[in-house]
Amino acid sequence: MSSDFYETSPALAQYLILHYGSVEWQLPSSSCSRESADFPVRCVQEGFRWGELPPHPTALDLGCAVGRSCFELSRRCRRVVGLDLSQTFLQSARLLQETGSIRCPVPLEGDQLVERDFSLPAGVCPERIEFRVGDALATPFEECFDLLLAANLLDRVPDPTALLERLPALLHPGGQLLLTSPFSWLSAHTPRDQWLLPGSPRVASLLLPHFTLLRRWDLPLVLREHPRKFQWCLPEATLWRRNDV
Ligand SMILES: C[S@@+](CC[C@H](N)C(=O)[O-])C[C@H]1O[C@@H](n2cnc3c(N)ncnc32)[C@H](O)[C@@H]1O
Repeated sequence: MSSDFYETSPALAQYLILHYGSVEWQLPSSSCSRESADFPVRCVQEGFRWGELPPHPTALDLGCAVGRSCFELSRRCRRVVGLDLSQTFLQSARLLQETGSIRCPVPLEGDQLVERDFSLPAGVCPERIEFRVGDALATPFEECFDLLLAANLLDRVPDPTALLERLPALLHPGGQLLLTSPFSWLSAHTPRDQWLLPGSPRVASLLLPHFTLLRRWDLPLVLREHPRKFQWCLPEATLWRRNDV
């Protein structure tokens, strides 16, 4: 997988299905637990402690891809910023935001494709979302947020330590960070000497000076490549509260 994978048509199809596909499209017909469906929705609904946040919070989704978590966050947040490096992904997120639906070819077998329509779910508030093309390691933000989601981004950036070091400044004290990662390190995305492997300083030691760990659990997902090939991933999820400064 090369670092520009997220600009390709197969990647777009995979992420539109992961974020907006019906359960029947997301999962193999019989052999996969429905607990693995709707990953971006579960991140938002189950990942944060909503009762411990201000009534109308603001949210930042780093590596938002085609945007489903942003739309889910918009149900409860007054402002949501979704940032991603992929122009292709954000074009689709914006089309969904503007028109409520998108048509995209998805793979069947060999070079066969079929057109599928993907739609926003009811009850989301697209007008509360700002989608920005940018680099999670470098894009400046003029504001702090109450919620920060970084789902499966850590092992896709060239400098994961720099990403973790950046996060405290993006959150208000008391704000919550949901970090998920399958720790699926690839040198196409992250030079070997930057991998946060077991035994090296890991996520916890980098975050603990600034955050309190509230919860750690598994958050599975399934990526559909074609009707007979699916990737089942088991990201680790951790929820953190920003300490007072
Ligand atoms: C594995 S996907 C995860 C997408 C989404 N968060 C999810 O869990 O479905 C990684 C995403 O991070 C984006 N990405 C990679 N490097 C990035 C960077 N430096 N800044 C912002 N986004 C980045 C990719 O374009 C892709 O959308």
